[in-house]
Amino acid sequence: MDLHILDHRLRVTCINKNGLEMYTHPLIKLIFLRHRTRCKFFSLTETPENYTVVLDEDGFKELPPSQHLQVERSTWLPLNVVSSSNTSSSSQVVGVTKIAKSVIAPLAEQHVSVFMLSTYQTDFILVREKDLSVVVHTLAEEFNLYREVEGEFVPVRSQGLSDGLQKNGREVPHSTVHPVLIPKNQFCVMSLDPDTLPGVATTLIDALFYSNSPKEDGSPANDLECIKFFSFSLIDGYVSLVMDTEAQRQFPVDLLFTSSSGELWKMVRIGGQPLGFDECGIVAQISRPLADSDISAYYISTFSFDHALVSLSLCHMKQTAS
Ligand code: ARG
Repeated sequence: MDLHILDHRLRVTCINKNGLEMYTHPLIKLIFLRHRTRCKFFSLTETPENYTVVLDEDGFKELPPSQHLQVERSTWLPLNVVSSSNTSSSSQVVGVTKIAKSVIAPLAEQHVSVFMLSTYQTDFILVREKDLSVVVHTLAEEFNLYREVEGEFVPVRSQGLSDGLQKNGREVPHSTVHPVLIPKNQFCVMSLDPDTLPGVATTLIDALFYSNSPKEDGSPANDLECIKFFSFSLIDGYVSLVMDTEAQRQFPVDLLFTSSSGELWKMVRIGGQPLGFDECGIVAQISRPLADSDISAYYISTFSFDHALVSLSLCHMKQTAS
């Protein structure tokens, strides 16, 4: 299998809800006016606490610094597993489950902190640029590694660095067991043709920026057991959306599409206190048992917490089976 180190240098940032107004102008440009920016990697996720924005350096330049914008110090690089196709179609799982044992666990064993971003199309594993040599060395065993340089994929060779690696044990470091929250709402993971973005513009603006505003029709106040979670990403020309079924109903039915199974997903939010960026093994801890049971799951890290989206149909099946 091949693993690509993509040619994006990413920043992980977060906008306070109070400061959103200052940022809607640049965010609208990044979402809808692709011809006005060179940004090629953009992801925006609204959670109850804040807005997480992960974007490349060209996109980052668009965000004015202010007290409402928090920026994680490091530069992050996205890794992406390219399954060289149908050879091992034995497993039908998607998302983080597919890479739990080959990527997530080995990186955690080497104490590499990751930041996960699953999309409709693929799963990005963000690692800090400064960890790259350890990452390369760790993953070279299992993958052919390529680094994207100006659109070309160049093979990467791992350089003698084995000294620094923890060879013994092969144990995922014992990380804290974080509390989890399982909200009542159900989620879908969808996509749309980027050329049809104008067709959903008002709905998307409403969902992203006005979700907390009261509606004229006085529809019911937010259900306390449901969680606000809405994610939009536009990465290398591909759009991915994660929203709950309530938000989905607001969109025109003909423009968004999802996988043929039209699956719904249950969310597990990981973390009681904000997780920070230095701890490793959180994704590993969650994805490993899912992989052991062949349960598909998407995984989205945000500035404060992690979110696993677990396949609902399989949850039920496993429950009834046991
Ligand atoms: N660094 C964690 C890990 O390696 C995942 C990210 C948690 N932090 C966050 N802010 N979401 O498992």
